[in-house]
Amino acid sequence: MNLKELAAHVTAEFQKHYGRAPRWIVAAPGRVNVIGEHTDYNDGFVLPMAIERYAIMAADEPLPGSVSAAAQISIWDIHFDEKATIDISGPMTRGTPKWSNYIRGVLCGFQNRGVKLAALDIAFMSTVPLGGGLSSSAALEVCTATLMEAATGKAIDPIEKALLAQKAEHDFAGVPCGIMDQFISALGREGHLLLLDCRTRKTELVPMSDPAVALLVINTNVKHELSGGEYAERRAQCEEAARNLGVASLRDVTAEQLEKGKAKLSEVVFRRARHVIGEIERTVRAAEGIRASNWSAGGKFMYASHASLRDDYEVSCVELDVVVKIAEEIGYKGGVYGCRMTGGGFGGCCVALVKTDAVASISQKIAADYQRETGIAATIFSSRPAAGAVIIKG
Ligand code: GLA
Repeated sequence: MNLKELAAHVTAEFQKHYGRAPRWIVAAPGRVNVIGEHTDYNDGFVLPMAIERYAIMAADEPLPGSVSAAAQISIWDIHFDEKATIDISGPMTRGTPKWSNYIRGVLCGFQNRGVKLAALDIAFMSTVPLGGGLSSSAALEVCTATLMEAATGKAIDPIEKALLAQKAEHDFAGVPCGIMDQFISALGREGHLLLLDCRTRKTELVPMSDPAVALLVINTNVKHELSGGEYAERRAQCEEAARNLGVASLRDVTAEQLEKGKAKLSEVVFRRARHVIGEIERTVRAAEGIRASNWSAGGKFMYASHASLRDDYEVSCVELDVVVKIAEEIGYKGGVYGCRMTGGGFGGCCVALVKTDAVASISQKIAADYQRETGIAATIFSSRPAAGAVIIKG
């Protein structure tokens, strides 16, 4: 479903469930990170793009006298047919169901900004695969923040909005994530990748509108769970490396400086730092390649990124490695420029830069070989770079 169809679907579902038309409709996309993995919390560069998969909400004020009118936000999850009720009469707290915490975290962010929350009836749905490393949680957070903007009539600066959503993830979902996912969901631009300097928060749009190239997302359908502890552990190891090397963050360290300081780091922490420092460099250079339509250069850095994430950062898994191996076998001749795991890791998706006219044959080959080698069916789709969060109605 494209965004227009999705909006029509959610409108109809809202109407069915609440018995009237919604007053507001908002959406925020998921993302795929082309390159720059585990660099955002090291003050480095990332190069994500928003995908044509969305968290979407239709909403209205509750009818007078209804249960929700008594200081409640009700959210009906269309797909899972599950309801969350959030009490807004006092300070926001964590609660159930689990997914409501992303929403609660954002509402808390608005309370902290001095916004008095108003009761709402919401119908919600997401086409971003859950636990697939495509930022379904950031999409939900940014979508909620965008609904609050629509409902209060007060727009907030998109960078502030991304930071508010990131804080929701930290405080209410317990994942100490960086700023990439919420930034791209809030700031994505159609036809562009976003080169983000996570230290200065300066963004640069990198055009990616050549119809001859496409990005394929290959979901291994192995679920990843970032609250599992590995993510926080990697982050702590990077901080340890920076501390022992006497710098504020790994952004301040060159490959030569790292080699010189090797004795100050454990073997594992050294490899973690080597990934981050190399990845920051690769991201800048891949963006240069893509900006110059040098797809082979971009693809080469993607393969190198994967190898580093697999061997030095150790966040890949067998299934992700199998996908990259198949992509390498198809190779340039078969239309693949590059491929790597994307997102936090431990499952989820790979991203491949490919020739558009080979999308069908590449998808077929990856699906067949992956199924044969792992016994799992992959889900594969391509997406053009989409726009960031949007108020569709209201
Ligand atoms: C998750 C986090 C991001 C980023 C990636 C790894 O998606 O939410 O902030 O750290 O992992 O690059």
